[in-house]
Amino acid sequence: MTNFNKNDIFEVQVIDLTHEGAGVVKIDGYPFFVENALPGEMIEMRVLKTSKKFGFGKVETYLTTSEHRVTDINLDYLRTGIADFGHLAYAEQLKFKRKQIVELLSKTAHKADFPVLEAIPSPDVTKYRNKASIPVRSVNGVLETGFFRKHSHTLVPVEDFFIQQPEIDEVVIAVRDLLRKFGLKAYNEIENTGFVRNVVVRRAHATGEIMVIFVTRKASFFKVDGLLNALTKQFPAIKSIMQNVNASTGNNIFGSDWNLLFGQDFITDIMLERKYDISAPSFYQVNTPAAEVLYAKAIEFADLNAEDVVIDAYSGIGTIGLSFADKVKHVYGVEVVEAAVENARKNAELNGIDNVTYVTGKAEKVMGDWVTEGVKPDVILVDPPRKGLDESFITSAASVGARSIVYISCNAATFARDVVRFEELGYALEKVQPVDLFPQTHHIELVGLLTRVKA
Ligand code: SAH
Ligand code: NI
Repeated sequence: MTNFNKNDIFEVQVIDLTHEGAGVVKIDGYPFFVENALPGEMIEMRVLKTSKKFGFGKVETYLTTSEHRVTDINLDYLRTGIADFGHLAYAEQLKFKRKQIVELLSKTAHKADFPVLEAIPSPDVTKYRNKASIPVRSVNGVLETGFFRKHSHTLVPVEDFFIQQPEIDEVVIAVRDLLRKFGLKAYNEIENTGFVRNVVVRRAHATGEIMVIFVTRKASFFKVDGLLNALTKQFPAIKSIMQNVNASTGNNIFGSDWNLLFGQDFITDIMLERKYDISAPSFYQVNTPAAEVLYAKAIEFADLNAEDVVIDAYSGIGTIGLSFADKVKHVYGVEVVEAAVENARKNAELNGIDNVTYVTGKAEKVMGDWVTEGVKPDVILVDPPRKGLDESFITSAASVGARSIVYISCNAATFARDVVRFEELGYALEKVQPVDLFPQTHHIELVGLLTRVKA
Protein backbone atom coordinates (compact mmCIF):
# COMPACT_ATOMS: atom_id res chain seq x y z
CA MET A 1 0.00 0.00 0.00
CA THR A 2 1.08 3.48 -0.76
CA ASN A 3 1.84 5.54 2.29
CA PHE A 4 -0.22 8.70 2.41
CA ASN A 5 0.76 11.81 4.25
CA LYS A 6 -1.43 14.71 5.12
CA ASN A 7 -1.26 17.42 2.42
CA ASP A 8 0.08 15.05 -0.25
CA ILE A 9 -1.36 15.99 -3.65
CA PHE A 10 -2.49 13.41 -6.20
CA GLU A 11 -3.86 13.77 -9.69
CA VAL A 12 -6.85 11.41 -9.75
CA GLN A 13 -10.19 10.67 -11.38
CA VAL A 14 -13.42 10.53 -9.39
CA ILE A 15 -15.07 7.14 -10.02
CA ASP A 16 -18.28 7.13 -7.99
CA LEU A 17 -20.34 8.85 -5.31
CA THR A 18 -20.98 7.69 -1.77
CA HIS A 19 -24.54 7.25 -0.54
CA GLU A 20 -24.33 10.79 0.86
CA GLY A 21 -22.90 12.36 -2.27
CA ALA A 22 -19.16 12.60 -1.66
CA GLY A 23 -16.88 11.77 -4.60
CA VAL A 24 -15.01 8.45 -4.43
CA VAL A 25 -11.39 8.25 -5.56
CA LYS A 26 -9.15 5.16 -5.42
CA ILE A 27 -5.39 5.18 -5.25
CA ASP A 28 -3.89 1.66 -5.44
CA GLY A 29 -7.26 0.34 -4.28
CA TYR A 30 -7.37 2.62 -1.23
CA PRO A 31 -10.51 4.83 -1.23
CA PHE A 32 -10.66 8.53 -0.50
CA PHE A 33 -13.89 10.47 -0.05
CA VAL A 34 -13.89 13.96 -1.48
CA GLU A 35 -16.59 16.60 -1.02
CA ASN A 36 -17.94 18.37 -4.09
CA ALA A 37 -16.35 16.02 -6.61
CA LEU A 38 -18.39 14.25 -9.27
CA PRO A 39 -17.83 10.99 -11.17
CA GLY A 40 -15.65 11.49 -14.23
CA GLU A 41 -13.95 14.62 -12.94
CA MET A 42 -10.14 14.77 -12.94
CA ILE A 43 -8.91 16.56 -9.86
CA GLU A 44 -5.82 17.39 -7.93
CA MET A 45 -6.68 16.02 -4.52
CA ARG A 46 -5.09 17.08 -1.26
CA VAL A 47 -5.01 14.41 1.46
CA LEU A 48 -6.83 15.65 4.58
CA LYS A 49 -6.65 12.55 6.75
CA THR A 50 -6.32 8.81 6.51
CA SER A 51 -7.30 5.80 8.54
CA LYS A 52 -6.83 2.08 8.06
CA LYS A 53 -9.52 1.50 5.45
CA PHE A 54 -10.23 4.89 3.89
CA GLY A 55 -9.24 8.53 3.85
CA PHE A 56 -10.62 11.98 3.21
CA GLY A 57 -9.36 14.37 0.59
CA LYS A 58 -10.33 17.74 -0.77
CA VAL A 59 -10.27 19.16 -4.23
CA GLU A 60 -7.22 21.35 -4.74
CA THR A 61 -7.93 22.01 -8.42
CA TYR A 62 -10.49 20.77 -10.90
CA LEU A 63 -8.56 19.59 -13.98
CA THR A 64 -11.82 18.71 -15.74
CA THR A 65 -15.42 19.14 -14.61
CA SER A 66 -18.43 16.91 -15.21
CA GLU A 67 -20.98 17.88 -17.84
CA HIS A 68 -23.55 17.12 -15.13
CA ARG A 69 -22.14 19.65 -12.67
CA VAL A 70 -24.45 22.43 -11.54
CA THR A 71 -22.17 25.42 -11.24
CA ASP A 72 -24.36 28.04 -9.58
CA ILE A 73 -25.06 26.16 -6.35
CA ASN A 74 -24.28 27.99 -3.11
CA LEU A 75 -21.62 25.82 -1.45
CA ASP A 76 -23.23 26.29 1.98
CA TYR A 77 -25.94 23.90 0.76
CA LEU A 78 -23.30 21.21 0.29
CA ARG A 79 -21.41 22.07 3.49
CA THR A 80 -24.53 21.82 5.60
CA GLY A 81 -26.06 18.90 3.77
CA ILE A 82 -29.22 20.98 3.11
CA ALA A 83 -28.69 19.88 -0.50
CA ASP A 84 -25.89 17.31 -0.56
CA PHE A 85 -26.69 16.49 -4.22
CA GLY A 86 -27.25 20.11 -5.24
CA HIS A 87 -24.11 20.19 -7.42
CA LEU A 88 -25.43 17.36 -9.63
CA ALA A 89 -27.98 17.85 -12.43
CA TYR A 90 -31.41 16.62 -11.36
CA ALA A 91 -31.74 13.86 -13.98
CA GLU A 92 -28.39 12.46 -12.77
CA GLN A 93 -29.50 12.62 -9.13
CA LEU A 94 -32.41 10.35 -10.06
CA LYS A 95 -30.18 7.91 -11.95
CA PHE A 96 -27.72 7.73 -9.10
CA LYS A 97 -30.36 7.19 -6.43
CA ARG A 98 -31.95 4.42 -8.52
CA LYS A 99 -28.53 2.79 -9.02
CA GLN A 100 -28.00 2.71 -5.25
CA ILE A 101 -31.26 0.78 -4.82
CA VAL A 102 -30.18 -1.69 -7.53
CA GLU A 103 -26.83 -2.16 -5.77
CA LEU A 104 -28.41 -2.69 -2.35
CA LEU A 105 -30.82 -5.30 -3.73
CA SER A 106 -27.90 -7.02 -5.41
CA LYS A 107 -25.67 -6.95 -2.32
CA THR A 108 -28.22 -7.61 0.44
CA ALA A 109 -30.98 -9.55 -1.29
CA HIS A 110 -28.77 -11.30 -3.89
CA LYS A 111 -30.90 -9.96 -6.69
CA ALA A 112 -28.40 -9.07 -9.38
CA ASP A 113 -29.82 -6.56 -11.85
CA PHE A 114 -33.32 -6.44 -10.36
CA PRO A 115 -35.33 -4.29 -12.82
CA VAL A 116 -35.91 -1.38 -10.43
CA LEU A 117 -38.17 1.06 -12.31
CA GLU A 118 -36.92 4.49 -13.34
CA ALA A 119 -37.24 6.92 -10.43
CA ILE A 120 -40.27 9.18 -10.72
CA PRO A 121 -39.15 12.81 -10.39
CA SER A 122 -40.63 15.20 -7.86
CA PRO A 123 -43.11 17.70 -9.34
CA ASP A 124 -41.04 20.47 -7.70
CA VAL A 125 -37.26 20.15 -7.45
CA THR A 126 -36.61 23.19 -5.24
CA LYS A 127 -38.77 25.08 -2.70
CA TYR A 128 -40.78 21.93 -2.01
CA ARG A 129 -40.44 21.22 1.71
CA ASN A 130 -43.51 21.90 3.82
CA LYS A 131 -41.55 21.69 7.05
CA ALA A 132 -38.37 23.21 8.47
CA SER A 133 -36.58 22.44 11.74
CA ILE A 134 -34.20 25.32 12.17
CA PRO A 135 -31.61 25.49 14.95
CA VAL A 136 -31.23 28.82 16.76
CA ARG A 137 -27.74 29.59 18.01
CA SER A 138 -25.57 32.56 18.82
CA VAL A 139 -22.81 33.27 16.28
CA ASN A 140 -20.30 35.93 17.33
CA GLY A 141 -22.77 37.15 19.93
CA VAL A 142 -25.71 37.49 17.52
CA LEU A 143 -28.77 35.22 17.49
CA GLU A 144 -28.84 33.37 14.16
CA THR A 145 -31.01 30.81 12.38
CA GLY A 146 -29.45 28.48 9.85
CA PHE A 147 -28.16 24.96 9.56
CA PHE A 148 -25.34 22.97 11.09
CA ARG A 149 -22.22 22.28 9.09
CA LYS A 150 -22.15 18.55 8.28
CA HIS A 151 -20.95 16.29 11.11
CA SER A 152 -20.79 19.25 13.51
CA HIS A 153 -22.89 21.63 15.53
CA THR A 154 -21.37 24.78 14.08
CA LEU A 155 -24.23 26.94 12.84
CA VAL A 156 -23.97 28.36 9.33
CA PRO A 157 -26.47 31.27 9.09
CA VAL A 158 -28.89 30.70 6.20
CA GLU A 159 -31.82 32.81 4.98
CA ASP A 160 -32.72 31.07 1.72
CA PHE A 161 -33.00 27.35 2.47
CA PHE A 162 -33.33 26.48 -1.23
CA ILE A 163 -35.52 23.39 -0.82
CA GLN A 164 -38.12 24.86 1.56
CA GLN A 165 -41.30 26.65 0.58
CA PRO A 166 -40.20 30.32 0.43
CA GLU A 167 -43.07 31.29 2.74
CA ILE A 168 -41.39 29.14 5.41
CA ASP A 169 -38.08 30.96 4.90
CA GLU A 170 -39.93 34.26 5.40
CA VAL A 171 -41.41 33.11 8.68
CA VAL A 172 -38.02 31.87 9.91
CA ILE A 173 -36.39 35.24 9.13
CA ALA A 174 -39.23 37.13 10.85
CA VAL A 175 -38.94 34.89 13.92
CA ARG A 176 -35.19 35.44 14.04
CA ASP A 177 -35.63 39.21 13.85
CA LEU A 178 -38.31 39.18 16.56
CA LEU A 179 -36.24 37.01 18.86
CA ARG A 180 -33.41 39.54 18.46
CA LYS A 181 -35.76 42.50 18.97
CA PHE A 182 -37.25 41.07 22.17
CA GLY A 183 -33.83 40.07 23.46
CA LEU A 184 -34.49 36.33 23.74
CA LYS A 185 -31.43 34.16 24.11
CA ALA A 186 -30.32 31.46 21.72
CA TYR A 187 -29.61 28.02 23.15
CA ASN A 188 -26.01 27.16 23.94
CA GLU A 189 -25.66 23.41 23.84
CA ILE A 190 -22.15 23.26 25.28
CA GLU A 191 -23.11 25.09 28.46
CA ASN A 192 -26.78 24.03 28.31
CA THR A 193 -27.84 27.66 28.74
CA GLY A 194 -29.98 30.07 26.74
CA PHE A 195 -33.61 29.64 25.76
CA VAL A 196 -34.65 29.04 22.13
CA ARG A 197 -33.27 25.80 20.71
CA ASN A 198 -35.18 25.40 17.44
CA VAL A 199 -37.89 26.98 15.42
CA VAL A 200 -40.02 24.46 13.56
CA VAL A 201 -42.33 25.74 10.83
CA ARG A 202 -44.90 23.72 8.93
CA ARG A 203 -46.91 25.06 6.03
CA ALA A 204 -49.75 23.10 4.47
CA HIS A 205 -49.11 22.87 0.75
CA ALA A 206 -52.72 23.19 -0.43
CA THR A 207 -54.21 25.57 2.15
CA GLY A 208 -51.15 27.67 3.03
CA GLU A 209 -51.94 27.34 6.76
CA ILE A 210 -48.85 27.75 8.93
CA MET A 211 -47.82 26.29 12.29
CA VAL A 212 -44.85 27.66 14.22
CA ILE A 213 -43.26 25.68 17.05
CA PHE A 214 -40.77 27.25 19.46
CA VAL A 215 -38.60 24.58 21.02
CA THR A 216 -37.28 26.03 24.26
CA ARG A 217 -35.04 24.82 27.05
CA LYS A 218 -37.42 26.02 29.77
CA ALA A 219 -41.13 26.62 30.03
CA SER A 220 -41.31 30.29 31.10
CA PHE A 221 -41.35 32.37 27.93
CA PHE A 222 -40.19 35.95 28.50
CA LYS A 223 -42.00 38.62 26.38
CA VAL A 224 -44.06 36.00 24.60
CA ASP A 225 -47.13 38.23 24.06
CA GLY A 226 -45.34 40.95 22.15
CA LEU A 227 -43.56 38.40 20.02
CA LEU A 228 -46.72 36.48 19.15
CA ASN A 229 -48.67 39.66 18.38
CA ALA A 230 -46.03 40.89 15.98
CA LEU A 231 -45.64 37.50 14.30
CA THR A 232 -49.34 36.80 13.78
CA LYS A 233 -49.94 40.34 12.53
CA GLN A 234 -47.22 39.89 9.92
CA PHE A 235 -48.44 36.41 8.85
CA PRO A 236 -52.22 36.00 8.92
CA ALA A 237 -51.74 32.45 7.57
CA ILE A 238 -50.35 31.39 10.95
CA LYS A 239 -53.12 29.27 12.50
CA SER A 240 -51.13 27.67 15.27
CA ILE A 241 -48.20 28.56 17.49
CA MET A 242 -46.93 25.89 19.86
CA GLN A 243 -44.17 25.68 22.41
CA ASN A 244 -42.27 22.50 23.02
CA VAL A 245 -40.08 22.32 26.10
CA ASN A 246 -36.92 20.28 25.72
CA ALA A 247 -34.58 20.43 28.70
CA SER A 248 -32.50 17.44 27.63
CA THR A 249 -29.01 17.65 26.20
CA GLY A 250 -29.47 15.07 23.44
CA ASN A 251 -30.04 15.49 19.72
CA ASN A 252 -33.82 14.96 19.78
CA ILE A 253 -35.57 18.09 18.59
CA PHE A 254 -38.70 17.69 20.69
CA GLY A 255 -39.13 17.06 24.40
CA SER A 256 -42.36 15.69 25.81
CA ASP A 257 -44.12 18.89 27.01
CA TRP A 258 -46.28 20.90 24.64
CA ASN A 259 -48.07 24.24 25.22
CA LEU A 260 -50.49 25.92 22.88
CA LEU A 261 -49.45 29.58 22.58
CA PHE A 262 -51.80 30.82 19.87
CA GLY A 263 -54.75 29.62 17.80
CA GLN A 264 -55.42 25.91 17.40
CA ASP A 265 -53.08 22.97 17.89
CA PHE A 266 -53.21 21.75 14.29
CA ILE A 267 -53.19 22.91 10.67
CA THR A 268 -55.19 21.39 7.84
CA ASP A 269 -53.90 20.26 4.45
CA ILE A 270 -55.35 18.43 1.46
CA MET A 271 -53.82 15.33 -0.14
CA LEU A 272 -55.39 13.29 -2.95
CA GLU A 273 -58.60 15.30 -2.45
CA ARG A 274 -58.96 14.51 1.24
CA LYS A 275 -58.54 16.83 4.20
CA TYR A 276 -56.08 16.16 6.96
CA ASP A 277 -55.57 17.76 10.34
CA ILE A 278 -51.90 17.63 11.31
CA SER A 279 -50.79 18.27 14.88
CA ALA A 280 -47.27 19.17 15.97
CA PRO A 281 -45.94 15.76 17.05
CA SER A 282 -47.42 13.93 14.04
CA PHE A 283 -45.41 12.81 11.04
CA TYR A 284 -46.37 14.31 7.69
CA GLN A 285 -44.44 13.75 4.43
CA VAL A 286 -42.44 16.91 3.68
CA ASN A 287 -43.02 17.00 -0.08
CA THR A 288 -46.79 16.92 -0.56
CA PRO A 289 -47.14 16.68 -4.39
CA ALA A 290 -44.44 13.98 -4.60
CA ALA A 291 -46.00 12.08 -1.68
CA GLU A 292 -49.28 12.06 -3.61
CA VAL A 293 -47.44 10.37 -6.49
CA LEU A 294 -45.92 7.86 -4.05
CA TYR A 295 -49.26 7.02 -2.44
CA ALA A 296 -50.95 6.68 -5.84
CA LYS A 297 -48.24 4.16 -6.85
CA ALA A 298 -48.72 2.20 -3.63
CA ILE A 299 -52.48 2.11 -4.26
CA GLU A 300 -51.89 0.98 -7.86
CA PHE A 301 -49.59 -1.82 -6.63
CA ALA A 302 -52.19 -2.88 -4.04
CA ASP A 303 -54.73 -3.46 -6.85
CA LEU A 304 -57.64 -3.12 -4.42
CA ASN A 305 -61.23 -4.29 -4.72
CA ALA A 306 -64.40 -3.70 -2.73
CA GLU A 307 -64.06 -6.89 -0.66
CA ASP A 308 -60.53 -6.21 0.51
CA VAL A 309 -59.47 -5.85 4.12
CA VAL A 310 -56.30 -3.76 4.23
CA ILE A 311 -53.77 -3.10 6.97
CA ASP A 312 -52.10 0.32 6.92
CA ALA A 313 -49.15 -0.16 9.26
CA TYR A 314 -47.20 2.93 10.42
CA SER A 315 -50.27 4.93 9.47
CA GLY A 316 -49.32 8.37 10.84
CA ILE A 317 -52.29 10.73 10.46
CA GLY A 318 -53.96 8.28 8.05
CA THR A 319 -52.92 9.82 4.73
CA ILE A 320 -52.47 6.51 2.92
CA GLY A 321 -55.34 4.37 4.21
CA LEU A 322 -57.90 7.18 4.09
CA SER A 323 -57.12 7.87 0.46
CA PHE A 324 -58.43 4.44 -0.60
CA ALA A 325 -60.78 3.48 2.27
CA ASP A 326 -63.84 4.18 0.11
CA LYS A 327 -62.70 1.51 -2.38
CA VAL A 328 -62.31 -1.36 0.13
CA LYS A 329 -64.22 -3.15 2.87
CA HIS A 330 -62.16 -2.13 5.88
CA VAL A 331 -58.83 -0.50 6.77
CA TYR A 332 -56.95 -1.25 9.99
CA GLY A 333 -54.28 1.30 10.90
CA VAL A 334 -51.57 1.15 13.55
CA GLU A 335 -49.33 3.99 14.69
CA VAL A 336 -47.22 4.54 17.80
CA VAL A 337 -47.64 8.33 18.22
CA GLU A 338 -50.90 8.97 20.08
CA ALA A 339 -51.38 12.49 18.66
CA ALA A 340 -51.11 11.09 15.12
CA VAL A 341 -53.70 8.39 15.87
CA GLU A 342 -56.05 11.10 17.21
CA ASN A 343 -55.49 13.01 13.97
CA ALA A 344 -56.19 9.87 11.91
CA ARG A 345 -59.52 9.22 13.68
CA LYS A 346 -60.58 12.85 13.25
CA ASN A 347 -59.41 12.78 9.62
CA ALA A 348 -61.61 9.76 8.92
CA GLU A 349 -64.54 11.77 10.27
CA LEU A 350 -63.58 14.91 8.32
CA ASN A 351 -63.75 12.88 5.11
CA GLY A 352 -66.90 10.96 5.97
CA ILE A 353 -65.09 7.61 6.22
CA ASP A 354 -66.30 5.06 8.77
CA ASN A 355 -64.77 1.76 7.67
CA VAL A 356 -61.42 2.36 9.40
CA THR A 357 -60.05 1.30 12.77
CA TYR A 358 -56.96 2.95 14.25
CA VAL A 359 -54.97 1.41 17.07
CA THR A 360 -52.25 3.18 19.05
CA GLY A 361 -49.26 0.95 19.59
CA LYS A 362 -46.18 -0.60 18.12
CA ALA A 363 -46.86 -2.19 14.76
CA GLU A 364 -44.85 -5.29 15.69
CA LYS A 365 -47.11 -5.89 18.72
CA VAL A 366 -50.45 -4.88 17.19
CA MET A 367 -49.86 -6.93 14.02
CA GLY A 368 -49.53 -10.00 16.25
CA ASP A 369 -52.71 -9.06 18.17
CA TRP A 370 -54.64 -8.75 14.92
CA VAL A 371 -53.48 -12.19 13.82
CA THR A 372 -54.61 -13.65 17.17
CA GLU A 373 -57.97 -11.87 16.89
CA GLY A 374 -58.51 -13.38 13.45
CA VAL A 375 -58.17 -10.25 11.28
CA LYS A 376 -57.61 -11.57 7.73
CA PRO A 377 -56.02 -8.87 5.61
CA ASP A 378 -55.92 -9.22 1.83
CA VAL A 379 -53.22 -6.57 1.52
CA ILE A 380 -50.73 -5.34 4.10
CA LEU A 381 -49.32 -1.92 3.45
CA VAL A 382 -46.30 -0.82 5.50
CA ASP A 383 -44.53 2.53 5.70
CA PRO A 384 -41.96 2.18 8.49
CA PRO A 385 -39.27 4.65 9.57
CA ARG A 386 -35.63 4.21 8.47
CA LYS A 387 -34.92 1.21 10.64
CA GLY A 388 -37.44 -0.82 8.67
CA LEU A 389 -39.61 -3.67 9.99
CA ASP A 390 -39.18 -5.65 13.15
CA GLU A 391 -38.60 -9.39 12.67
CA SER A 392 -41.75 -10.15 14.69
CA PHE A 393 -43.81 -7.85 12.43
CA ILE A 394 -42.57 -9.75 9.37
CA THR A 395 -43.35 -13.20 10.79
CA SER A 396 -46.86 -12.15 11.88
CA ALA A 397 -47.56 -10.38 8.59
CA ALA A 398 -46.36 -13.31 6.50
CA SER A 399 -48.49 -15.77 8.52
CA VAL A 400 -51.98 -14.43 7.68
CA GLY A 401 -52.12 -15.18 3.96
CA ALA A 402 -52.37 -11.65 2.54
CA ARG A 403 -52.04 -11.77 -1.26
CA SER A 404 -49.58 -8.90 -1.26
CA ILE A 405 -47.37 -6.72 0.87
CA VAL A 406 -46.97 -3.17 -0.36
CA TYR A 407 -43.83 -1.77 1.24
CA ILE A 408 -43.10 1.97 1.23
CA SER A 409 -39.54 2.61 2.35
CA CYS A 410 -37.31 5.62 2.95
CA ASN A 411 -34.26 3.38 3.38
CA ALA A 412 -33.38 0.89 0.64
CA ALA A 413 -30.88 -0.89 2.91
CA THR A 414 -33.48 -2.00 5.45
CA PHE A 415 -35.98 -2.59 2.65
CA ALA A 416 -33.56 -5.03 0.99
CA ARG A 417 -32.96 -6.76 4.33
CA ASP A 418 -36.72 -7.15 4.94
CA VAL A 419 -37.33 -8.40 1.37
CA VAL A 420 -35.03 -11.32 2.10
CA ARG A 421 -37.17 -12.33 5.09
CA PHE A 422 -40.47 -11.99 3.20
CA GLU A 423 -39.04 -14.14 0.40
CA GLU A 424 -38.06 -16.83 2.91
CA LEU A 425 -41.64 -16.74 4.20
CA GLY A 426 -43.43 -17.24 0.88
CA TYR A 427 -43.45 -13.86 -0.90
CA ALA A 428 -41.67 -12.75 -4.06
CA LEU A 429 -40.50 -9.26 -4.92
CA GLU A 430 -42.34 -8.17 -8.09
CA LYS A 431 -41.68 -4.49 -8.52
CA VAL A 432 -39.69 -1.64 -7.03
CA GLN A 433 -40.65 1.93 -7.88
CA PRO A 434 -38.48 4.77 -6.56
CA VAL A 435 -40.23 8.11 -6.13
CA ASP A 436 -38.11 11.17 -5.42
CA LEU A 437 -39.56 13.04 -2.46
CA PHE A 438 -36.25 14.70 -1.62
CA PRO A 439 -34.70 16.45 -4.65
CA GLN A 440 -31.20 17.90 -4.14
CA THR A 441 -30.56 15.49 -1.25
CA HIS A 442 -29.34 11.90 -1.13
CA HIS A 443 -32.68 10.63 0.21
CA ILE A 444 -35.32 8.83 -1.84
CA GLU A 445 -38.50 6.85 -1.20
CA LEU A 446 -39.51 3.65 -2.89
CA VAL A 447 -42.55 1.45 -3.05
CA GLY A 448 -42.06 -2.30 -3.42
CA LEU A 449 -44.65 -4.94 -4.28
CA LEU A 450 -44.28 -8.42 -2.79
CA THR A 451 -46.83 -11.05 -3.80
CA ARG A 452 -47.63 -14.36 -2.19
CA VAL A 453 -46.19 -17.33 -4.06
CA LYS A 454 -46.72 -20.20 -1.61
CA ALA A 455 -49.07 -21.03 1.25
N1 SAH B 1 -47.84 6.48 6.55
C1 SAH B 1 -47.66 7.77 7.18
C2 SAH B 1 -46.50 7.81 8.19
C3 SAH B 1 -45.21 7.23 7.72
S1 SAH B 1 -43.81 7.67 8.69
C4 SAH B 1 -47.48 8.85 6.13
O1 SAH B 1 -47.24 8.55 4.97
O2 SAH B 1 -47.59 10.02 6.47
C5 SAH B 1 -43.63 6.35 9.80
C6 SAH B 1 -44.62 6.39 10.95
O3 SAH B 1 -44.37 5.27 11.78
C7 SAH B 1 -44.51 7.62 11.86
O4 SAH B 1 -45.79 8.19 12.00
C8 SAH B 1 -44.02 7.05 13.19
O5 SAH B 1 -44.56 7.72 14.31
C9 SAH B 1 -44.53 5.63 13.13
N2 SAH B 1 -43.82 4.61 13.91
C10 SAH B 1 -42.50 4.54 14.20
N3 SAH B 1 -42.22 3.39 14.83
C11 SAH B 1 -43.39 2.71 14.94
C12 SAH B 1 -43.74 1.43 15.48
N4 SAH B 1 -42.84 0.65 16.05
N5 SAH B 1 -45.03 1.06 15.38
C13 SAH B 1 -45.97 1.85 14.82
N6 SAH B 1 -45.69 3.07 14.29
C14 SAH B 1 -44.41 3.48 14.35
NI1 NI C 1 -28.71 8.27 4.05
